[in-house]
Amino acid sequence: MYADRVLSGMRPTGNLHLGHYHGVLKNWINLQHEYECLFFAADWHALTTHYDSPGDIEGNVWQMVIDWLAAGVDPSKATLFIQSRVIEHAELHLLLSMMTPLGWLERVPTYKDQQEKLTEKDLSTYGFLGYPLLMSADILIYRANRVPVGEDQVPHLEFAREVARRFNHMYGKEPGYQEKAEAAVKKLGGKKAKLYEELRTRFQQAGDDAALESAKALLGETQNLSLGDKERLYGYLEGGGKMILTEPQALLTEASKMPGLDGQKMSKSYGNTISLREDPDNVSKKIRTMPTDPARGRRTDPGSPDKCPVWQFHLVYSTPEVRAWVQQGCTTAGIGCIECKQPVIEGVLKELAPIQERARALTEDPDMVKNIIADGCDKARDLARETMRDVRESMGLSFG
Ligand code: TRP
Ligand code: SF4
Repeated sequence: MYADRVLSGMRPTGNLHLGHYHGVLKNWINLQHEYECLFFAADWHALTTHYDSPGDIEGNVWQMVIDWLAAGVDPSKATLFIQSRVIEHAELHLLLSMMTPLGWLERVPTYKDQQEKLTEKDLSTYGFLGYPLLMSADILIYRANRVPVGEDQVPHLEFAREVARRFNHMYGKEPGYQEKAEAAVKKLGGKKAKLYEELRTRFQQAGDDAALESAKALLGETQNLSLGDKERLYGYLEGGGKMILTEPQALLTEASKMPGLDGQKMSKSYGNTISLREDPDNVSKKIRTMPTDPARGRRTDPGSPDKCPVWQFHLVYSTPEVRAWVQQGCTTAGIGCIECKQPVIEGVLKELAPIQERARALTEDPDMVKNIIADGCDKARDLARETMRDVRESMGLSFG
């Protein structure tokens, strides 16, 4: 099995809401059981668009981290950290900027789109243009091969892949490459080293793809090699240089089924959110005042659930029996909208109760949250430093 490493980042937006929970956090919580996971607060990214009004970035980071933990992201399974606390991201971003064609950045679709959309902001800055490259550095510095992102971020991931490819092509043939690869083979140990060499020869001399796959699997299982040596041996198999940076793959996150209170996407800027720490009375009030199918002007007018945002909530929170009751009751005016909303209110409150309980405990223990993050930053930094050693060396900057 390959050692898959997952990395994802979230901009610090302060308190998270149900859209984040159903759209991102539940996915992270599942992934943490299956993969090695790194999750970080992308605080520098917030500055690419809000450089003139940073607000309370720090406070927003801590509130966001509390929500991650309260929702069930488990620091004993996933490494949680803050981007700007692992300064190596900035170094990789700088070094990558030397070899990234300007045209590649200008062609990233979000660049022009956002500039046109957010007209109240001046986004003709160096940092905003470089945003996808900073994101590439975030990913490549951990040699993460899986990146859970929404549809909107897929072009950014494709960009990161191209940067990695260009980098490996340009700097992958390190001096002394042959000797280093041979030394790494030795480190595999007698039997494995011999098998690796045999498979490599079979692939290189006879084009045996099955041999290539077996050799890759062999490397994947190997525990006692540094990541650097491992990448070297992956590259050596195919005769190319060392794969210094790993091309990441998108792990496409299904679009959230959780809409906002008005049926649009749930987003702070639309004012249609239920925050994870929303007071229960407020939750009830917000749902009770949600718009419904306008056809149901009077209690006796029938309606259709597909024209009603409350129905979308039932799809997230209700059992098939309750949904059948809604369909029947709505279309025959057998139930009223207030009645229909009651199970949704209960569902949301039930989901939020344990989250709010944990958030309260974490809020009362800020040191615990700080320690979790300090620990995560240390772990992330160790991984980042390992990559940076190889990157510097391959660009002629090791000063050893
Ligand atoms: N660009 C992402 C967003 O706005 C956040 C982000 C920054 C990210 N760096 C990343 C996501 C690296 C995944 C991997 O949502
Ligand atoms: Fe919406 Fe339920 Fe009212 Fe039908 S009965 S319009 S689904 S709230």
